Amino acid sequence: MVRNSVSSLLAGPDDGRYAIVVGWIRTKRQSKNTIFFEVNDGSCLANLQIVVDKSGDVIDGKQSQHLLNGASIIAEGQILPSEGKEQEIELIARKMRLIGEVSPSYPLQKKRHSFEFLRDNAHLRPRTNTFGAITRVRNALSVAIHGFFQKREFLWIQTPIITGNDAEGAGNLFQVSTLDYSSPPRNDSGSVDYQKDFFGKKTYLTVSGQLQLENFACSMGKVYTFGPTFRAENSNTSRHLSEFWMIEPEMAFCELEENRELAESLIKELLSQVLERCPDEMELFDRWVSKGTIDNLKQVIDKPFIHLTYSEAIRELKKAPIDWEYPPAWGLDLQAEHERYLCEELIKGPLTLTDYPKEIKAFYMKQNDDGDTVRAMDILVPRLGEIIGGSQREDDFVKLRDRMKQMGMDMSEYSWYLDLRRYGSVPHSGFGLGFERLVQYITGMQNIRDVVPFPRSPKAIAF
Ligand code: 4AD
Ligand code: MG
Repeated sequence: MVRNSVSSLLAGPDDGRYAIVVGWIRTKRQSKNTIFFEVNDGSCLANLQIVVDKSGDVIDGKQSQHLLNGASIIAEGQILPSEGKEQEIELIARKMRLIGEVSPSYPLQKKRHSFEFLRDNAHLRPRTNTFGAITRVRNALSVAIHGFFQKREFLWIQTPIITGNDAEGAGNLFQVSTLDYSSPPRNDSGSVDYQKDFFGKKTYLTVSGQLQLENFACSMGKVYTFGPTFRAENSNTSRHLSEFWMIEPEMAFCELEENRELAESLIKELLSQVLERCPDEMELFDRWVSKGTIDNLKQVIDKPFIHLTYSEAIRELKKAPIDWEYPPAWGLDLQAEHERYLCEELIKGPLTLTDYPKEIKAFYMKQNDDGDTVRAMDILVPRLGEIIGGSQREDDFVKLRDRMKQMGMDMSEYSWYLDLRRYGSVPHSGFGLGFERLVQYITGMQNIRDVVPFPRSPKAIAF
């Protein structure tokens, strides 16, 4: 049986050709002689109107009372220009059958539901316009991400999900273990004996594929990964997830300036691709979620990104006529209020910040000659703050080893990483773009939990 997707029918001619459609009833209304069903099959935002003549035998009499919102159906008939104003074409059904009926407890009504309500019904969210649109935007972005890197001769590396080290050195790790927590094996000193654990040592879910990417970049040249990462941060905010996807490129023979250029062109290209591939979805977000989002994105595409060093940013913050909750000071991490001021008031757009104090950044970043700062690079955007974090990496064996020791790291876990600086070391750089933050930025959605299929956050892992 050849079926037609709603998107292909809406894009095709209204010449009376025959079509077979499957989907779920979104709404239904009746006039004296006719029933109009709005049916969605997920292929696009728009529904297909299916017109049923009550007088014929289009619907099996026993089924008609079950053809309700949420029920699944199959229908066949002719595609013709619609007489209604709401849609250009419609399917004049010759036959329509119920596939799965819907029980009266179906939680989705015709009215708009709050995002909180939908989060509690995350398994039904894809049946709403907004979440369907998010799903298609995520798909278009994923394709565009691979396209961007493949065009530039990057190799896609599948970095591991289970690791033995903390790539960020920040300690936000989920431990992976098969030990029995109620009575773990203990060694002579009384502490848990991880030699008896599955891998014979402590292991974790990855926070970033960066270290392994550096490994591959230092022989394959240009590489990237796009996959899930995990952070056990106890951050209950609208921009943190415990499981999120990250895009991470890594380039050998590459210093910070080139890294910055790549990050900025990646963002611009992804914005253009979404505007081109998801115009209906973007219109929905512009209309219902965040007014003006399309124009904003177009401006970001057209204008060069502004670049400041961390020190310049601190100077700007100190000059700002604002009564800060956290007064800005050199050496402190930027707070959300600082990031928002910089992007929303000062720059009015995305901002690339580089050369942060080494004390607030990860161990692997390349030290500047001043001894105080490192070649870090964050990209901040209005509303969300940081969406990209990256750096040039320390390629000097002695400097890297000393910094790691200074920070009290377990050197035995990182000898392979230091080997990359022992054997043909090269300047190299990379960054990580948070996929969900990107989707949030593009769509204007307020809460990161509403742009991911199944959100995971502290004390929340339904579905
Ligand atoms: O700044 P981060 O921690 O950088 C790294 O992990 C580097 N190893 C990347 C690299 O250089 N290869 O994280 C990168 C980005 C952030 O800018 C943010 O967009 C996103 O990942 N991110 C999160 N997104 C959602 N929930 C969280 N808890 C996130 N933590 C980071
Ligand atoms: Mg960061």
